[in-house]
Amino acid sequence: MQHEEQVRVLKGLMDHLDRGTNVDVGYQVKNPTASYTSPEIAAQEWESFFQDYPHLLGLSGELPEPGSFFTSTDLGKPILCTRDMDGTFHAFLNVCRHRGVVVETAERGRKKLFSCPFHAWTYSTTGDLVAVPKEDHFGAVDKSCHSLVALPAVERHGLLWVSPNPEHSFDIDDLLGDLGDELGHWNMEACARHDATTYKHACNWKLANDTFGETYHFETLHRDTLSPSFYGNVQMYDTYKRNHRMALCLRSIDSMRGTPTDSWHILRGTAPVYYLFPNIQLVMTGGGPILVRIYPDAGDPSNSRSEITWYTFPEEVRRSFGIPEEQDEGRLSITDRMEGFAAIIEAEDYVVAASSQVGALSGAQDFVTFGRNEPALHHYHSTFRKALGQEPLETLESPISSAAE
Ligand code: FES
Ligand SMILES: [Fe+2]
Repeated sequence: MQHEEQVRVLKGLMDHLDRGTNVDVGYQVKNPTASYTSPEIAAQEWESFFQDYPHLLGLSGELPEPGSFFTSTDLGKPILCTRDMDGTFHAFLNVCRHRGVVVETAERGRKKLFSCPFHAWTYSTTGDLVAVPKEDHFGAVDKSCHSLVALPAVERHGLLWVSPNPEHSFDIDDLLGDLGDELGHWNMEACARHDATTYKHACNWKLANDTFGETYHFETLHRDTLSPSFYGNVQMYDTYKRNHRMALCLRSIDSMRGTPTDSWHILRGTAPVYYLFPNIQLVMTGGGPILVRIYPDAGDPSNSRSEITWYTFPEEVRRSFGIPEEQDEGRLSITDRMEGFAAIIEAEDYVVAASSQVGALSGAQDFVTFGRNEPALHHYHSTFRKALGQEPLETLESPISSAAE
């Protein structure tokens, strides 16, 4: 994130605090509860957003050296991601070209060759079929026609992007817009993978995503967890095409007042959270990025899960942030970082997200209301609806009391 932009965001937050304001879209919108309960919409989203759209599967640190690999079934099909012996990132359908068995069954590791467990057809890190045992008995195989099926894959700004549709390549620079440049400033290519976990939630995937979309709830839901270190209902918000950046306001921002802006760093006064369409929340902390990938259970509008991975900035990068020791999350152990995140996201946010699903299924109301101070919710849902060709969200001009009738 460019320093000039860091200063703009920090000053904007200080200004909101001074004036007792928050970002203000200027109007409320109604979001139909069917968005969270309809099997038809869930099916459209799965096809359009999760089967035919490029996805961020991890940071570059998932593949730390030549020969590193990991496998994924997050997008409903087996995918093998590799870093070849020259260091280039690849993704393939993890399916043997002989009889269709899943080739690599380990979650991650390092290999020069991937040998199918059925008859040992063997593939290189570039997906080439390099060995067919007993070919004199089996019959000749044209190896050049039997490589693993390649998926469009791009490594950019320390992020690993894959299209699950082999036919659909993508332009990640175009999809990220101006946000790409900003992401490039975080040195994420140097971040090491630390640990990962899964949270399952009995709610629509968008309800889990929505919990990242405002700080209006900090002083109630997170009264004892986040609120001691964050101001609630104060944020800076910027959109970049289908993506956005929210800057949450740390109470430590006050210690920066009156100090030279040259010494400011965004992480001293905020926790920036990037949303990358359709399902990514990337939380920047002094300890390192936390990547949250939210997936629906295919075809099921009421169940979803989050795959969460913790990464670490290299020590020299972390020190350059100038975060005072007592505020620096980087001093914490990975166990403390993971437990702290779970205490907020899993034990608080995702509990109310599941509760909202109960409410949506109850039929109590046909829509939920997004406030003027919840711009991310406006943006998420407007973007989803536009992508699926649905009607725009209905705008409410009247006070919420009459809107809830
Ligand atoms: S199915 Fe893979 S080698 Fe036969
Ligand atoms: Fe929250």
